[in-house]
Amino acid sequence: MSAQKLNAARAALDYVEDGMILGLGSGSTAAEFVRLLGAALKQDEIAIKGIPTSRETEQIAREAGVPLIPIEQADRIDLTVDGADEVDGRFRLIKGGGACLLREKIIADASDLMVVIIDETKLVESLGAFPLPVEVDPFGFTITAKKVFDALRRAGVARPEVTLRRLGDGLEPLVTDGGHYILDCACGEIPEPELAAAELIDIPGVIEHGLFLDLARVVIVGEDDGARVME
Ligand code: A5P
Repeated sequence: MSAQKLNAARAALDYVEDGMILGLGSGSTAAEFVRLLGAALKQDEIAIKGIPTSRETEQIAREAGVPLIPIEQADRIDLTVDGADEVDGRFRLIKGGGACLLREKIIADASDLMVVIIDETKLVESLGAFPLPVEVDPFGFTITAKKVFDALRRAGVARPEVTLRRLGDGLEPLVTDGGHYILDCACGEIPEPELAAAELIDIPGVIEHGLFLDLARVVIVGEDDGARVME
């Protein structure tokens, strides 16, 4: 765990209040937040309930002693703390490097506040150097992949490259917690993220995409010796 990710995760604890229902993000930075949260709950007199965005985060939360509730039992989500693969100056994000983007977006969208925790490498001038993950139904995914290519072209991406994400051995497709596939779309640059998002979500086989627009309200950038909070 890098010091920057750790410092960002630690700074996010300031947003946690007694009685909150918390969305718990996925990825290494969010995992660190969950571990720190577990340690803080043992020390402080506060109680929270967590809703994990992935099976992996659920396991980490259980090990850290963070109480969990099923999402169906939540009448609200106060705060979600999650990582990101890229963040631009308008707090637009690419997420899904860990293949958890659908649950991450459902939970972020349902939250009163989304706080994003990143290291400095995640801050970008414009989105797209990180391949955009698009979660698709396995049925007809080759057709969907062609539609995704066309949609990205219409959104101004010059030469998109759409690749099915596979497991480490390269043979089997990766299957998300929700039973879907991931198409990783190398774009280089996404000139109009809002247009790309609208084009992608219009494709029948697309379940969700990793463009998180108008969701993050706070971005905490971990630095080597602290953290910078941007609101
Ligand atoms: C999970 O699907 C992703 O959205 C992660 O939040 C993202 O990949 C950031 O991961 P790290 O915190 O491990 O860099």
